[in-house]
Amino acid sequence: MKKTIRIEPHVDSIIMPENLRVGLMVAEQRKKCQKVKCDAEYYGFGFGQSPFHVPEPIARALAGNTEKGHYSDAEGIYELRQAVAGFNERHFKVDVDPSEVIIGPGTKPLIHMVFDIVRGDVIIPSPSWIGYFPQIKLLDKHFHTFYMKPEFWYKIQPEDLDAFLSEIHREQHILVLNNPHNPTGALYSEKELKAIVEVCRNHNTYVLADEIYALTTYHFERFTSMRRIYPEGAFVTNGLSKDRSSGGYRLGSCILPEDCSEDLKEDFRKVAATVYTNVSTPTQYAAITAYEPNEEIEAYFTVTREIHRIIGQFMSAEFNTIAGITATVPEGTFYFFADFNELAEDLRRKGVSTSNDLGRSLIAHPHHIATVTGDACMLRPDDYGARIAFVDYDGKEAFEKFKEKPPRTTSEEEAFVRDNAPRMIAGVEALKMYVDEIKKR
Ligand SMILES: Cc1ncc(COP(=O)(O)O)c(C=O)c1O
Repeated sequence: MKKTIRIEPHVDSIIMPENLRVGLMVAEQRKKCQKVKCDAEYYGFGFGQSPFHVPEPIARALAGNTEKGHYSDAEGIYELRQAVAGFNERHFKVDVDPSEVIIGPGTKPLIHMVFDIVRGDVIIPSPSWIGYFPQIKLLDKHFHTFYMKPEFWYKIQPEDLDAFLSEIHREQHILVLNNPHNPTGALYSEKELKAIVEVCRNHNTYVLADEIYALTTYHFERFTSMRRIYPEGAFVTNGLSKDRSSGGYRLGSCILPEDCSEDLKEDFRKVAATVYTNVSTPTQYAAITAYEPNEEIEAYFTVTREIHRIIGQFMSAEFNTIAGITATVPEGTFYFFADFNELAEDLRRKGVSTSNDLGRSLIAHPHHIATVTGDACMLRPDDYGARIAFVDYDGKEAFEKFKEKPPRTTSEEEAFVRDNAPRMIAGVEALKMYVDEIKKR
């Protein structure tokens, strides 16, 4: 008799990461569609990857460092940590010592390390990026979901946080604060961050400041790093995946709180050495170029964030024209959040009983609209919401066209989106048909 290998329940219960989950949903739906000979287009609002190319100076630097086959320091090579500190100083006006920087294979494992090393309950605001919750489950860590309100643009309200933290009887907590925010695209002002930090200080709460989208902030001068507001209490994570479109390079950094103990630094080094030894050494050398002053990369930031702004704000406005859907207006990232709750009654009548069902129903034949909904975003089951990623277009082509002739007026911007992102425009039409279908009695 074949024996079944038993699985640890804390592993078995985690959710498949969004890229694979949405990909699997599409694959499954395609199989069903083949049976009815449907070859309709799929509308990809699910997968959140930068559509742009790796900036050429970074690609060249990687090619030039292939011979660096040696192991390197677990916390990252010194020259790279120094470059990361310099980058933070130039862009975010913060003082960072290279000894406070830990390099990891993307920010995901660094976030995992923060949860693993820092004691206390984790507070995850919802809606949330899909990555935190599975890590918490994997670590078997105690956590709390903090529900943010649509009337406050899904931002943490200090008085609500104060009341919430007062109820948690632990000596120390970790609050996840992702700014700008995946999935809503919301940006916190300096004033808002200060008010949240005041609450955190009062409740012995450290902040995991996930700033991976910082440099995608459309009006970059409005971005404030947590390191400026809460130097003694923020673990700031950032990396190459989003603003430099190099997710596959797997390179991120975590800045530890200012003046933290040598023991804490040593613990990060120990865990890094135990789990991944070091980030690929050639990638680390290439990343020095990604962090050092470079005009070509600066110009790349300017162009890509403008394209994200134009497409994001246009798409969000299009979603808002659909009666029954309310979309957030993104100020950074390449996502917004679409609230379908006005359609709740119609959805329930059509058998869409939960937010997880909403994702399944949107992808089902004949609509074929891929989104991320439900448990993945840590939504309440009866909260019909979806994360919309607006990156389903040829980034390289859009980049070149933008450089040739940047749109100057609202109508030129609209023409730019229609020209460069026809699949997403068609996706909105598919969504309109979906909503009409849902409303039919
Ligand atoms: C909010 C947020 N944080 C962290 C990550 C992880 O990025 P990486 O591990 O590629 O650095 C992502 C990627 O999707 C993200 O959206």
